[in-house]
Amino acid sequence: MATFQNSLPDLTKPAPAGGPAIYVETYGCQMNVYDSQAISGVLEGAGYRLVDNELVADAVLLNTCSVREHAEHKVISRVGEIRHRRLDADLPPAVIGICGCMAERLGDDLRKGPRAVDLVVGVDNYDALPRLLGALVGPGIVGTTAKPGTTAKPGATVTGHRQDAHYVAPPDLYPTNGSHLVTIHKGCDYKCTYCIVPMTRGPQSEKAPEVILAEIGQIVAGGGREVTLLGQNVTAYRWQDSLDFAGLLEQVAAIDGLERIRFLTGHPRDMHRHLMDAIGRLDKVCPWLHVPAQSGSDAVLRRMKRLYTAAEYLDMVEYAQRVVPGVTFSSDFIVGFPGETDADFRATLDLVRRVKYDQIFSFKYSERPGVPAAKLADDVPLEAKKDRLAELMDVQQEIWTAAANAHVGAVVTAVCEGAARRPAGAIRLRTANNRKIVVTGMDVAPGAALTVRLTGWEGTTFFGEPVPA
Ligand code: 5AD
Ligand code: SF4
Repeated sequence: MATFQNSLPDLTKPAPAGGPAIYVETYGCQMNVYDSQAISGVLEGAGYRLVDNELVADAVLLNTCSVREHAEHKVISRVGEIRHRRLDADLPPAVIGICGCMAERLGDDLRKGPRAVDLVVGVDNYDALPRLLGALVGPGIVGTTAKPGTTAKPGATVTGHRQDAHYVAPPDLYPTNGSHLVTIHKGCDYKCTYCIVPMTRGPQSEKAPEVILAEIGQIVAGGGREVTLLGQNVTAYRWQDSLDFAGLLEQVAAIDGLERIRFLTGHPRDMHRHLMDAIGRLDKVCPWLHVPAQSGSDAVLRRMKRLYTAAEYLDMVEYAQRVVPGVTFSSDFIVGFPGETDADFRATLDLVRRVKYDQIFSFKYSERPGVPAAKLADDVPLEAKKDRLAELMDVQQEIWTAAANAHVGAVVTAVCEGAARRPAGAIRLRTANNRKIVVTGMDVAPGAALTVRLTGWEGTTFFGEPVPA
């Protein structure tokens, strides 16, 4: 199996000084955050230098998302912005590359037209980057810019899925939330009719359990105490019919020194009772379930091919509440899917009211070329989509306001993740069930567990005060 294995970066070794400077910018989901770490590891290993903005870079790599049209538009306008900013600063044009889902979806088309880029490298081909960049930003070579209507030279397009190629990224030394990302599989075999991911990320393919365990072992050896297991559908993890996701959780939980395990994203269909039992039984597995429902209407769920009904989803929630102490839920929703009636939308509101999520991420349906739902008329007018989105967010706000108010006064345990952005001197903490708390007047190291009383809240963050031991 091809594995792009990297080792933990050695902090005692300064970054190489002379190599070409590369700036990697990430869009989209946590999978892309992890992939950007993998890209950075591959490039550093080949002698490139990583920098943190486009003005000091020889090459800029945009790691992109195709899940909604808007996400793609943002990247295309960013290409123009990077060119302008460098021009305004009297700098030579940088090489620009597009990686990730847009590279896979649009391929060579991204190297044509007024916003043409130099490199297009898809999700399974980042090991080619050192060679491709070497041809463009090697010593004495400056970046190229495509003229309108031409194809940039000497750039390249490398896309296409390699089923068994899995990245092992060097962990981010200081992840902002203290949780080290570990991708456990890639791709997706579900065929949700709205979703571009099966096209951009390819079929589901598992990272071997021994590779996952070794990767987490390295993270723990480097001082990490928490991991987030990542995948498009982590709950569908299955290694050679001998290990499912519950089994993998057991093995990860057995790693000495690891304290907390989170995971993203679960599919309601795979939330089997024995998995929820394992989540409840294993102390290290955090009681927070991000399990996107997408809709509360059975008719819409059927057209989305989600493979569950609203009642089955609610059964899953009810069972998890029984066996996972303190469990909280978050979810994604799409409004305005083809054919969604007002009654369908009311069913979504009803589901949201019943589950009482801590947080939801809601999106207007965006038709993606080539997905099964593209054959259905995108018939919910934009105004109705906007109104439904606003109403869904209002209902969630109402629910969360009541829940958050009810929590004020509670005493909870949470782990320090570092300094809060504000107020000055405050620290930020996170509970196992993914609630954020800001505490002032305490100075503890990241990773330390504290007992705090919740005193108030704003947005999705609580305020708290230390409770003397
Ligand atoms: N339109 C709108 N939202 C989408 N999502 C996925 N595909 C689409 C689409 N075509 C949302 C889903 C998914 C989240 C990552 O993005 O809610 O869970
Ligand atoms: Fe976006 Fe999906 Fe690709 Fe992640 S996998 S970057 S959400 S399209």
